[in-house]
Amino acid sequence: MEIKTYDGSMGEWQGDAALLLLREEDCGALSDLPYAETVRQLAERQDFKGRKGSSLRVPVFEGGVKNLYLVGLGKAEACSAASVRDTLAWGLRMAGRQHNGSVLVPMAHLKDVFNTDSGPSASAVLGEAAGLCGYVFDKYKEKKEGEYTPFALKEVFAPGLMPEEARRGQTFAAAQVAARALANEPGCSVSPAGLAEHAGAMANERGLTCEVWDEERLKQERMGALLAVGSGSANPPRLIHLTYKPKGTAKRKIVLVGKGITFDSGGLDIKPSNFMTTMKGDKSGACAVMGVLRGTAELGLDVEVHGLLAAAENMPSGSSYRPDDIVRARNGKTIEIENTDAEGRLVLADALCLASELKPDAIIDLATLTGACAVALGKWRAGLFSRDDALADALLAASRRRGEAFWRMPAEDEHIEETLKSPFADMVNSGPRYGGAIFAAIFLSRFVEKDIPWAHLDIAGVDFMDKEWGVYSKGASGFGVRTCLDYLAQ
Ligand code: BES
Ligand code: MN
Ligand code: ZN
Repeated sequence: MEIKTYDGSMGEWQGDAALLLLREEDCGALSDLPYAETVRQLAERQDFKGRKGSSLRVPVFEGGVKNLYLVGLGKAEACSAASVRDTLAWGLRMAGRQHNGSVLVPMAHLKDVFNTDSGPSASAVLGEAAGLCGYVFDKYKEKKEGEYTPFALKEVFAPGLMPEEARRGQTFAAAQVAARALANEPGCSVSPAGLAEHAGAMANERGLTCEVWDEERLKQERMGALLAVGSGSANPPRLIHLTYKPKGTAKRKIVLVGKGITFDSGGLDIKPSNFMTTMKGDKSGACAVMGVLRGTAELGLDVEVHGLLAAAENMPSGSSYRPDDIVRARNGKTIEIENTDAEGRLVLADALCLASELKPDAIIDLATLTGACAVALGKWRAGLFSRDDALADALLAASRRRGEAFWRMPAEDEHIEETLKSPFADMVNSGPRYGGAIFAAIFLSRFVEKDIPWAHLDIAGVDFMDKEWGVYSKGASGFGVRTCLDYLAQ
């Protein structure tokens, strides 16, 4: 997708389409609005009033443009950079599917939405929306003539574009799309070793280093929890270590840790079938970390960034780890297995030990960790757990700039802490149903060095979209990539 500036007048625009995002208040007689007279008449005829979720395609038979799209943003007071990003992606997707190769997007009339010091610019949001709108997971599907709608959109034009900002937005989007594309691959296509291959290829392309530990090495390195989770699968586990080092001196060192369960059947505590579908997405945390590293390299950030991907397949078999087993994590702590389906915290335990050994300025983990988090927050908002206010605030600010919703959750609780106790080991891996997401966060905290600021992002639920909406396509979302990239870029 190319994004270019447009210097001409609206009347002279010769491309396929123009896309006009309108708040309800814009639909009166604003004289400096592009296509003002058309908009005014359509509003008067009650055909389009800028309502949220409404749209109108107006074929034009005279003049330069072939299709004029009006897309509603709703009331001005409820309009934000985030809602513009989502609506823009939706509108561009529609235009692209309706065989428009080039679209003009005037945004000057929305300047007060973007007129904040800390918020993203209109050009950056356009770059993100344009980069995100066209992706769908359809590579395995036959493209039948008449059934398949090719995505025609190739060029987006905007008056007064800031090209550098737009490019930056596109880099953010491309990082997220890479994460989605990998997370969408089914378990038969991406095993832990397969994930390592993808990571290696990405590292080669982007000038990162990639070190992979196989099961032999994992034994030597005392990664007993990761090995236990992977033991039931014919596809053995891997620990993947990606490193980005900036050209000059690094301002900070950050470690990102990703849950990379390539398929989560639950193991011997097998999931019911309606909970097992979409569990190819249980590697979304690891895919997001790869996306962030890709974006970091592309932006050339002056931060040293490490990505640790804990990859395993959770399967039931004669060699599986069992309920009642006691496993030993890398830091020597023992864990009694209450439930083999609480496997994410186990693979992360070993990876968080390793992350702490790197002595970074902060650790952030991304994981599709608990159904409980999705129950608490819904499928459109992720959980943020941290005992460090500065880190939590910085991540929440980054998430607001990128329109990815996070909600801060408790990372400490003395009563839940009690339920981690095991009579036979240092802790159990699973507790009572209530407060399950907090239990998991407290469990993880036992593997992080106390004085290192750490945040845990539980992306269960948001990692996988049931339907297309805003910047998202059906399936893997790549949620969290832009937030983390924005945090690193600050
Ligand atoms: N991968 C799941 C969590 C999940 C659920 C992700 C729904 C995305 C959507 C995780 O490994 C899991 O199975 N968690 C259990 C934990 C329980 C056994 C303590 C859960 O949430 O039920
Ligand atoms: Mn599980
Ligand atoms: Zn899982």
